[in-house]
Amino acid sequence: MATLGDSLTLKSGTVLRNRICKASMNEALATPDGKVTDAHVSLYEAWADSGASLLITGNMMVDGKHMNEPLVVDALLDTNMDLLRKWAATGKRTNTHIWPQLNHPGKQSPKMVNDAPLAPSVMPIPNDMFAPPRELTDAEIEGIIDSFAEAAARLEEAGFTGVQLHGAHGYLIGQFLSPHHNRREDKWGGSFENRFRFVEEIYNRTRARTGPGFNVGIKINSSDFQKGGFTEEDSIEVAKRLDKLGIDLIEISGGSWENPVNRKGKQEAKKESTLKREAYFLEYAEKVKSQISTPLVVTGGFRSSEGMSEALGTGAMDMAGVARPFAVDPKFGKHVMQNNKHVSPVAPIRSGLKKIDAMAIMEISWYTMQIERISQGKKVQTKADGIWPALRVIYRFWKNGKAVKRVRA
Ligand SMILES: Cc1cc2nc3c(=O)[nH]c(=O)nc-3n(C[C@H](O)[C@H](O)[C@H](O)COP(=O)(O)O)c2cc1C
Repeated sequence: MATLGDSLTLKSGTVLRNRICKASMNEALATPDGKVTDAHVSLYEAWADSGASLLITGNMMVDGKHMNEPLVVDALLDTNMDLLRKWAATGKRTNTHIWPQLNHPGKQSPKMVNDAPLAPSVMPIPNDMFAPPRELTDAEIEGIIDSFAEAAARLEEAGFTGVQLHGAHGYLIGQFLSPHHNRREDKWGGSFENRFRFVEEIYNRTRARTGPGFNVGIKINSSDFQKGGFTEEDSIEVAKRLDKLGIDLIEISGGSWENPVNRKGKQEAKKESTLKREAYFLEYAEKVKSQISTPLVVTGGFRSSEGMSEALGTGAMDMAGVARPFAVDPKFGKHVMQNNKHVSPVAPIRSGLKKIDAMAIMEISWYTMQIERISQGKKVQTKADGIWPALRVIYRFWKNGKAVKRVRA
């Protein structure tokens, strides 16, 4: 069975030097209109030394009018090319692969940055943060598919060695896949075939626009855990079909705004099987692994060398995907490789007020504050309890949203 230090050869021929992947985390370091900044470059200079062989970037948008959060990168902005080149080059020194994650949020684009979100069907998200979506036209769907492929071609030109399509967490690809969110009666909805067509076209056109050694991966949910939604069977079928098409890496995750990853993580964490293993989605990975030849990354819950090594040892996955520990320890990958008893000091901010602590943005914003500190070469804070740090996090999120709206006005 594989160990964390073993290399992994992908279908493209790319050799990853170990089994640790830093999973995607929105850096929130772009300008309000989606420009890459020097802070992205310095952050990835630091993470190139993290010990992970593969760094998936925070999600970049394929349409700057549709952002999932403030301060995300617009992958198609012409003015970004120079800094994207510098960003891609940060991995060269340590033979670390960097793959930007490409996303369109569809209806999961909050009011603070978007008053007119789009979706496969008019099924509003039952949350005041989001405006009701408008149904996409056929021409708009074709345009979005082309934008994914165009973005991948530019990122390859900038020097990145691959891209990851964001098919998880309830964004547009996930909305098309889900029979709950996709109620279309044309070729984009209804049967599995039709719901799969959007991601299949994105994959095929991305391949057509990029070279043979360029990696195309995807992050998918193991299921949406939503009645009438995207099931585990659907998810396995998606993995099987993308495997057949030749996809290079599949990352397994879970959750959406309506059913967040934290909540899912907490449900899974209560299960005895998850208590024995750190990974939330390893049971699902076991089911899918034997049916595909594409290597699998499992993400969600890994905190220690032991947990990651044990999960690899089951043979149910090929790589451990880790997000939050890299935000509080920029050398987390090295630490787990050097010390087989290493445990991440990850401890989210707690204001002590239940309502505030339950807000999804608290968790995300707290980690992005630490990511910003890494980009500035500052020491990260592993703990910050109390109401003032919590209010600072909320204020920062609100201020960033306002800045995006100002740019749009
Ligand atoms: C600050 C932050 C930002 C995130 N941004 C993204 C993102 O842009 N794309 C994505 O697929 N997942 C994103 N995630 C989810 C992580 O990739 C990962 O799936 C989740 O945190 C569970 O893994 P962990 O337990 O190792 O943190 C984000 C998570 C955090 C904490």
